[in-house]
Parts: sequence; structure tokens; C-alpha cells
Amino acid sequence: MRDAAYDDFIDKLRSSCDIVEVIAEYVPLKKKGNNFWGCCPFHSEKTASFSVNPAKGFFYCFGCQAGGNVFTFLMKVENISFWDAAKQLANKLNIPLPEKEKSAQELAREREITSLYKVNQMASEFFHSCLMNTNYGVKPLQYLHERGVAREAMIEYQIGFAPPGWDKLFTSFRSRGVEPELLLNAGLIMQRASGNGFYDRFRERIMFPICDVRGRVIGFGGRVMDGDQPKYLNSPETKVFNKRRVLYGFDKAERHIRSSGQAIVVEGYMDLITAQVSGVHNAVASLGTAFSVEQSRLLLRCASEIVFAYDSDAAGQNATARALAMVRDQGASVRVISVPDGKDPDEFIRRQGAEAFQLLIDKAPAFLEYMLRQSLRDTDYSTLEGKVSVVGKLLPALAVSDNAVEVNAYIVKIAQILALDEQSIRSELRKFQTSQQTNLVTKQKKEVFAGSRKMNEATHQAEQLLIRLMCENQQFIEVIQERLNISSIQDQNHLEIIHSIYITYEQKNDFDPAAITSELTEPAAAEFSQIMMSESNFDDIQRILSDCLRTIQVAYLNHLYEQHRLRADELERLGDSSFLQELAESQRIKNEINKIHKLQ
Ligand code: CTP
Ligand code: MN
Repeated sequence: MRDAAYDDFIDKLRSSCDIVEVIAEYVPLKKKGNNFWGCCPFHSEKTASFSVNPAKGFFYCFGCQAGGNVFTFLMKVENISFWDAAKQLANKLNIPLPEKEKSAQELAREREITSLYKVNQMASEFFHSCLMNTNYGVKPLQYLHERGVAREAMIEYQIGFAPPGWDKLFTSFRSRGVEPELLLNAGLIMQRASGNGFYDRFRERIMFPICDVRGRVIGFGGRVMDGDQPKYLNSPETKVFNKRRVLYGFDKAERHIRSSGQAIVVEGYMDLITAQVSGVHNAVASLGTAFSVEQSRLLLRCASEIVFAYDSDAAGQNATARALAMVRDQGASVRVISVPDGKDPDEFIRRQGAEAFQLLIDKAPAFLEYMLRQSLRDTDYSTLEGKVSVVGKLLPALAVSDNAVEVNAYIVKIAQILALDEQSIRSELRKFQTSQQTNLVTKQKKEVFAGSRKMNEATHQAEQLLIRLMCENQQFIEVIQERLNISSIQDQNHLEIIHSIYITYEQKNDFDPAAITSELTEPAAAEFSQIMMSESNFDDIQRILSDCLRTIQVAYLNHLYEQHRLRADELERLGDSSFLQELAESQRIKNEINKIHKLQ
């Protein structure tokens, strides 16, 4: 819902905040010229290509093309919504939130979310109390004790117990006035197959509350104490619980991950608790083997290195390979711990101690080393086929590395181990890289041909310049509206930006360009930021404006001319006499182009 108070609030936030100050909390920045520079938080880099322009309120990364205003930055870096970014800024600047007029729908949704948090918290207390203070807790306490979980850890992680029977939680919560619908939506109860009546989802299980980044309970994992199946039962997806987005233990680990720049990823609840309790404070659990892109983003917001400590079983190892590839794609540096003797971190730490585990972390092999060990382990490399297969498996890993020294060292090592000639490995790698590039080029070519317009650099620049002119000299907007044929704009992002400028200008002469960013799609916002980030000064604005308009118009006319010519050729081939009309039209356009050139 948009209203005047809301718009004022957003404007006020933007004008009172210093984008450099906000971004500097995440990225060390250095001033150079009018801009500030640092290493981009959205991709991995060693030289600064991330720039912030305080005067205009934009940031832009020349490396990964991420860009936008202060809101976009917070949304991206914190992985939050626009409104949450606004609230965070308001909080920092001590600007009161507007009395936003919310729709009935919004209010209902907010109420539902709040009550979901509340009922999850209540359930967490209920389970915890059953474990600690009731007779139901005797057996599970014994079980936890045998597994080496101390009382302090039970309190710290609010471990609980879902009592046996079918409806202990349901009855207790009903008597406290909690509606069945809410319990259903929170995934705490299920509807009977017959359709009437409900029963508890979690029965006779050790309960692990799962918290979001702010430590609010959003769901549960429940473990059986015997060999029953499933071993773990988790809450279903709810409006507050999305398994892909949560990392168990992250709320406690976050500050340690930030300060160490490193995150250790384990699989399970027990692995996580044992690790954190014994001093590996930067550990989180992915809750199963499928490490998601969302989870990796959450970690990469605060760490540049991820160390995987998955189980050494086949599932764990396959998952590790998948996770590695994905995280590498995102620019993180990754290492892999192989816990010896097929143990999981929980067992390993309990038997060998935290120091032994820390040692495993410290000497965990890096990505390439791990891939090398894995492929050697899985293949009989005494045969020629074996050697070929090992090299084949390693080529993709070698090809993605941007560290030439590292790659070289591995080629030498692989050659030694496999008793192969280094040169032949190098030439295989080159072939692989070329084939990859060819794929890329073919793909790009296809994309160019798919779009009927081929845009040249001069036109692209003219469009960019025109956008900058509109924002920096807003008195020109009306002139441009008159003189620019909007369909002559070729770049889709530029078209979107210009539309947005027109609309904003209509509502408010003299607008803040940074405000437009939030209205744009992500690629358009990034393009807009890049445009606004350029530094050059204009001496003769009028002339530049005319040049831009002319370049854009000529490019458009050329495009039209070509279309009519092609059409004419085609019709002529088909023996259709209307090709003459097409030809005449193309000639008319050609004349128009010539006229423009003569006027110049
Ligand atoms: N998991 C799950 N559902 C299952 C099995 C596993 O959600 N049916 C998730 C749990 O988060 C579990 C993790 O995957 O902690 C790892 O599974 P597994 O290695 O089988 O269990 P452990 O964590 O070793 O559990 P425990 O030590 O209690 O046996
Ligand atoms: Mn285990």
C-alpha cells in the first residue's frame, strides 16, 4: 500500500542517510575522486571494483554489475525485503516509522505471522518443560545423557520432548485458547484422516527447536529414541519456516562466523550442538545433505570461506561435491573436512575431542586437493582408462580456478601421481577451456541473433548518456519527451529506466534519481547505477543532448531501413510485386538518414 506518509518517509530516509556510511559497515571503503571504492561484497575479488557515489546515492560493482541505491544494497547484503531495509535504516537514523495505512489483507497476514512465531515459541517451551520438569522426561533425559548432551546444552538449545499419546500438545494448547487452525498452520498438529479431530504431529520424540537468524523459533526437528522411522521428523513448510532458507544454529554462530570469516557446515542437529558446545562456535547445520543456494548466500554474507564437514558416507560425499560446485560458483573459497573412520562430526568430537576436530578444520584440503583425492580414491589409476578418467574428472575443477599458480601446482602433482606428461594434461585443460568458451560464444551468438536488433556501442552509450542528462538536468526531460521517439530506444533496460523517469517526473518535478532505482527490475537498476556512477563532466550540454538524440534516431532509422530492405528482398524472391513498396519505403528512410547527416 502506497500513501503520502509512506512516500515521505522513504524520501526522508534516503535524504538523511549517507550511503557511504551504511555501506562502510559491510565493506571497507577508500575515497578516490568523487567515489568511494572497496572490494565487492557480492562476489569474491581481491582488487576493488565496487564503487559508491555519495552525492548521487548509488553503488555499482564493475566486476559483477551489481548496483542500486542504499535500499537495494541492504536488501542484497542482508537478504531482506525492501520494507525491512527501510525499517533497518529508520532504526539507525532514529526516524519514526510512518503510520502506514495497511490493507486488511496485510494486517491479517501480519497477525498470522506474529501468531505463528508465538505459537512456535509456546510449543518450544511446552516441549522443553516436558523434558526437564515432567515424568515424561525421564527416558529422554537418560537418552540425551548417554549421547553426552549436558544439561546446560539442553537449556542453551532448548531441547525438548514431545510426550507420547496422540494429543497432549493439542489438548494443552486448546485449554489455553489456541485455535486449531493456528496449530495446523504451524505444523504442530494434523487433521485426522476421517476429517474430524486432530492429533499431534510430534509424539514421543526428542525435540530440537529451529530458529531463524534472529533467534525466533520457526519450526522443529524431532528425533525418535529407538530405531523407528523416520529417524527425524521436521516441521512442514509454513509461512515462517522455509527449510531452504534456514541453517540450524546460525543465530548463535553468526557473530563468530563474521569475526572469523569462516563457517563450518555440518549435517545434523547433534553434530551442530556437539560442535558449538565444544568450542567450534562458527558451525552451522544444513539439516540434511542438500545445501541450498539460499543457505550459501546466508553464509557468504558474513564469511568468505566455507568448510564442509559432512558425513563420510556416500550420501554425504555426493552432497559435498554438489555443494562445493555451487558454492564455488558463488565465489567462496571452500575446503572439505573428511572425518576419519566413517564417523560424523558429533561422534568424532565426542571421541577425539574438539582439538582433534579443530586440527581437521585447519588442515582441511582446499577444493582442488579434495577433488583430486576423491577422484584418486574412486578410480583405479594404474590403467590408462583410469588415468584418463581421473584427468577428465579434474578438468572442470581446474578450469574454474582463477589461481594460475594453484592450477599449475596441481598439474605438476597430477602428472606425478598418474605418471603422465605435464604437457598432455595442460593441452587437455586448454582443449576443455576452449570447448567451454566456444559453448559460451555460441550461446551469446544465439542470443544476439534471437534479438532482431544488433546494438552498436555508440548507440548504447548515447542512450546511457541521455539517461544521465535527464537525471542531472531535469529541465531537459520535457524537451526529451518531445524530441525522443521512445520506440527508438533499443536497450530494454534503458527503456524501462526512461519510462520510470517520465513517470516519476510527472509526479514530482525535481526528483531524486536514487529513488527510481527501487522501482526498477534488478538488471535495469544495476544498469542505471552504472550510468549514474560515471564521472565525466559536460561542457556543452545542449550539444551533447542533440548528439545523443541524433545518434539514437539514426540507429533506429538504420534498423528500420534494414528491416524494409530484408522484407523487400524476401518478397522479390517470392515473386510478390509489393516488394517495390518496401523498397520505396526503405529509400524514403535512407533519404531521411542522409538529411540528418547533412544537417550535422
Ligand atoms: N534428517 C532429516 N530427516 C531424516 C534424516 C535426517 O531431516 N529422516 C536431517 C537431520 O537434520 C539430521 C541430518 O539430516 O540431523 C543428518 O542425518 P543423519 O546423519 O542420518 O543423522 P544424525 O545427524 O547423525 O543424527 P543422529 O546422530 O541423531 O543419529
Ligand atoms: Mn550422528
